[in-house]
Amino acid sequence: MYKCGVYPVTEKTEISAGIYSYVISCPDVAELAKPGQFAHIKVDGFTLRRPVSICDADKEKGSLRVVFEVRGKGTARLADINVGDKTDIIAPLGNGFTLPESMAPGRRVILAGGGIGVPPLLGVARVMKGNATAILGFKSRERIILAEDFRRAGAEVIICTDDGSAGVRGTVADVLRDESVKGGADGVFACGPEPMLKAVVGECKKSGLNAEVSLEQRMGCGVGACLVCVCRAVRGGEEFMLRVCKDGPVFNGREVMP
Ligand SMILES: Cc1cc2nc3c(=O)[nH]c(=O)nc-3n(C[C@H](O)[C@H](O)[C@H](O)COP(=O)(O)OP(=O)(O)OC[C@H]3O[C@@H](n4cnc5c(N)ncnc54)[C@H](O)[C@@H]3O)c2cc1C
Ligand code: FES
Repeated sequence: MYKCGVYPVTEKTEISAGIYSYVISCPDVAELAKPGQFAHIKVDGFTLRRPVSICDADKEKGSLRVVFEVRGKGTARLADINVGDKTDIIAPLGNGFTLPESMAPGRRVILAGGGIGVPPLLGVARVMKGNATAILGFKSRERIILAEDFRRAGAEVIICTDDGSAGVRGTVADVLRDESVKGGADGVFACGPEPMLKAVVGECKKSGLNAEVSLEQRMGCGVGACLVCVCRAVRGGEEFMLRVCKDGPVFNGREVMP
């Protein structure tokens, strides 16, 4: 079930150069939202909405947080919105991450996020409380976002950067290769650029860990009708197509990255 409405922006922060965090007051959407789902946001002057992951939902305050990077004309226009302005959104859309209902003592999940793929994992960290290790990868120190938010949500945070300017030098998959990081993990939830996701799924296959990945795809309707967003998957040796908006955006990593 999703809602379609016009809701006010209550907070706007540029958390890194060209990366914006918005809090939107929308109690009916916040009530339904699950980590990994997305909002389809109307942008003035554009016919097609822009999909942005739900970074966090506060059911008590009735608010939703989204974090996006300016990539092109649509997101640049979106960044013009200010506190007090209204946003037209359809949300929550798609299927989120399959979160465990309970965890055995000492067990945890690994959150693997790269760059602007980090935001949707914050909601997972909040639900998992202290039972999550977040491996957050960025190009360099200046590009780090949301690390403190993950710590406040109770996650153990491991930062890695491509240039070694903060945390471990290397990629999220490099960190995941470390047996001491994987020990006690029940599964991996990942979001980031495709090469990163492929490397993470490859690492999970080697160590027998389940991996769920959130995919990005250009979208039209966002609700399963236009087939603009299909991706290829393999299950039981058979190939088939899935819609990222309706069947995803979160998928079994082994099926979409066989
Ligand atoms: C389910 C989902 C969740 C997303 N969550 C977030 C998020 O939380 N934060 C965030 O910053 N971005 C997110 N994106 C990506 C975001 O939708 C695109 O960056 C945005 O649509 C670009 O619009 P634009 O008009 O600014 O760019 P355009 O002018 O259309 O294009 C600029 C560049 O962005 C690329 N692009 C356009 N649309 C997409 C897309 N859907 N996926 C990947 N690349 C695209 C183009 O190839 C081009 O290189 C998500 C995408 C999906 C499908
Ligand atoms: S965007 Fe229309 S079916 Fe997915």
